[in-house]
Amino acid sequence: MERLKFDFNNMFSSSVGEEHGVKEDDLNQMSQAIADAHHHLLKVSVNDSSRIRLNLEWMRLPLQDKNAIKKIQTLGRQIANKYESVVSLGIGGSYLGLLAAQSALCPPYYNDFSLLRKKNPKIYFEGNNLDPDTLHALLKNLNPKKTFVIVISKSGETTETKAAFMVVEAWLKKGIGKNYGRQIVVITDPETGSLRKKVDEAQKKDILSFRSLPLLKGVGGRFSELNMGLLHMAITGVDIEEVLRGAHDMGKICSNADFTRNPAYMYAVLHTILYRKHGKPIAIMMPFSETLKATAEWYVQLLAESLGKKFSRKVSVLADGSEVWERDPANIVNLGRTPIPARGTNDLHSIQQNNIEGENNKVTTFIRVERFRNDLKLPGKSDILSGKKFSELIKLAQEATEWALVRQERPNCTIIMPAVTSYYWGALLFFFEITTAFEGELLNINAFDQPGVEGYKNYMYYKLGKQGLAPSVSEEIKNNPLVKNPKYII
Ligand code: PA5
Repeated sequence: MERLKFDFNNMFSSSVGEEHGVKEDDLNQMSQAIADAHHHLLKVSVNDSSRIRLNLEWMRLPLQDKNAIKKIQTLGRQIANKYESVVSLGIGGSYLGLLAAQSALCPPYYNDFSLLRKKNPKIYFEGNNLDPDTLHALLKNLNPKKTFVIVISKSGETTETKAAFMVVEAWLKKGIGKNYGRQIVVITDPETGSLRKKVDEAQKKDILSFRSLPLLKGVGGRFSELNMGLLHMAITGVDIEEVLRGAHDMGKICSNADFTRNPAYMYAVLHTILYRKHGKPIAIMMPFSETLKATAEWYVQLLAESLGKKFSRKVSVLADGSEVWERDPANIVNLGRTPIPARGTNDLHSIQQNNIEGENNKVTTFIRVERFRNDLKLPGKSDILSGKKFSELIKLAQEATEWALVRQERPNCTIIMPAVTSYYWGALLFFFEITTAFEGELLNINAFDQPGVEGYKNYMYYKLGKQGLAPSVSEEIKNNPLVKNPKYII
């Protein structure tokens, strides 16, 4: 069977020159670090306590319980058959994966045409911003009686999602009356958080109200699409089994200890070398496919939150052999490549100028789609474009972009995707998750936490008067106000 492939020809000095490309010797020098990273990742992933404590449970998502999936599919079908619209509330990992799935696996213009959607509900995403304009417009125009709401928040505390849900809940209650909770599904932590509390209270009164799909323990937000995104897939008619099968098969390929035969490891190794030895901190993710644009945005979060870290990792082994990872305060590293989403061919007319002639500090990843779902043949005979197909042109444009980058000694690589199907999309997601985890190992940082996002949250909580903030946090904010000199505002 065809599979996703990784073409890394243009990462080497033989393609892009000594200064900007990887040499075979660079790989040899890393062989011990690669073997250590493989064994460490394997060790923590087979230890149940480590895997859950360290947020590595996502590795097992492709093999989820089949009965649980059937239940999600049944619920999804019930919602799809009954409602015109679904509003999905969530942010970060509770949003980007769903958007990526919808863009890749549902027909383009899904919301606009009922026939394309096969009469499934329209899907609207909210709770991913505090800009009041979009939610306001949406609620003004939706009919609460025909709208189902999914609220996704692992912590149940995230301000953006919580605020949107408060407004949406009041809107539903007003439009429907006391049984409004039957039009809500909550996806949240099985034990903690204010959303969980709300679910438990509502369920005591009415078992059909605030139905809940639990998030698995040990699956962090950005690694959780194959868990929290399943209901959304079921509603939109995406083949969940195929997504999981693709992920599973990719997981098998990427478990090979030999990195020369493991595309996820190879991707991480080459990027690490170019980042650390050749000064390439910028990662351009450029699918040549409109439908994969949101997948590039999903990858931005995966890379930025997983690998953008201030401190190195300190590993301690407990008496039962499981591990605890902490930040090593003695070792400030400030690591992490900066991801930039782009898409071909659209952005060949914007960011590409900088990729070609700007600072040579970037590595571009292309995603090349071999077969599109549909094609268009250009009419006539007199134009050079006549008789050509769009699919030929987009592939030629991708090849041309590779060539142009190579000519300017700009390293790049290509993920070759046979087609944008549920199977290959599941494989693509899992490929990126494994390679990110492996890159975290090579950099010796914790790829599964995101302490950096706490700063803005704490500041907001402090200003909003939240109880229970750690005194050190309150003190820091109180003693270090933002200073605005009017002289510098003109
Ligand atoms: O990857 C992560 O863990 C984060 O990006 C979260 O997904 C994001 O902050 C949303 O969190 P929550 O699902 O708790 O609302």
